[in-house]
Amino acid sequence: MTTPVNVTVTGAAGQIGYALLFRIASGQLLGPDVPVRLRLLEIPQGVKAAEGTAMELDDCAFPLLAGIDIFDDPRRGFDGANIALLVGARPRGPGMERGDLLEANGGIFKPQGEAINAGAAQDVRVLVVGNPANTNALIAQAHAPDVPAERFTAMTRLDHNRALSQLSAKTGAPVGDITGLTIWGNHSATQYPDVFHARVAGRPASELVDEAWLENDFIPTVAKRGAAIIAARGASSAASAANAAVDHVFDWVNGTPAGEWTSVALPSDGSYGVPEGLISSFPARSVGGRWEIVQDLEINAFSRAKIDASVAELVEEREAVKGLGLI
Ligand code: NAI
Repeated sequence: MTTPVNVTVTGAAGQIGYALLFRIASGQLLGPDVPVRLRLLEIPQGVKAAEGTAMELDDCAFPLLAGIDIFDDPRRGFDGANIALLVGARPRGPGMERGDLLEANGGIFKPQGEAINAGAAQDVRVLVVGNPANTNALIAQAHAPDVPAERFTAMTRLDHNRALSQLSAKTGAPVGDITGLTIWGNHSATQYPDVFHARVAGRPASELVDEAWLENDFIPTVAKRGAAIIAARGASSAASAANAAVDHVFDWVNGTPAGEWTSVALPSDGSYGVPEGLISSFPARSVGGRWEIVQDLEINAFSRAKIDASVAELVEEREAVKGLGLI
């Protein structure tokens, strides 16, 4: 057997963790020939439930699962991690202001960034799922100065998949026939799902839909889908979030299909006027195990205004966490 890849998952006892771990252990995260060793990180109160999930993982007898370890100490949890999935986060409680939320999450993502810096593998790749994902990723990255900044990403793949599904429903084309969609900006209600470079079965999507549908239907439906799921299910998206995390890491490691791209929140290099260092969602291709921002897309005035609004929110979040001394 080849050396197993160490995959650390935080929030392992949570809803997304429960949907995610079985997919990882079955080989869907990295590929059908890659053995994995799971390192589950929880807070002390979550350890017992994580042990229960680990028992179920054992009971699946997954041939690729080389071992499971459970920790409540980030230093140990991230030791040797090749892939780090940062899912556990502090949700917004009743009466909690945004500053309180950022501060509470800073208390999680700062030590986790430090632990990744101290002990993760040389090739560590980090995906932050826990919200507010972009800014949590920024905090973790700021505390891991020895890890290349580009290895810190946040998840907008669920938004991307939601946009694919909505465009498919509108046009009647299968999702597999749609390419060139992009989520820009923050994983929040200000995100901008952009269809202006999308093609549906080879035809420009902009010929198939009008601006009124984009403005009044598509964009709000994609951006508020998380809230709609909570209203319907009584709990936030879990299996679809886990699925998106699997898609994100699989493409990062194995490459995006030739000529296609997906959406990834990653540290800006200044492309498209997004301030450098901000972790913002872009059109991105994975080439040779690295994300590259797709360059030279023409941005029309409609898109420009929406990208700018979401980026402005990220700038505000960055200022807020700077003010709190978290970065
Ligand atoms: P959950 O509440 O079911 O589970 C969270 C788990 O994280 C709990 O078991 C908790 O004990 C654990 N946890 C808390 N602090 C921790 C720490 N410091 N270290 C390790 N574990 C810790 O939540 P769920 O539904 O699994 O969602 C997790 C996060 O993912 C939330 O922040 C949610 O908002 C976010 N999310 C992000 C999406 C995206 O597209 N980026 C989509 C859906 C959810």
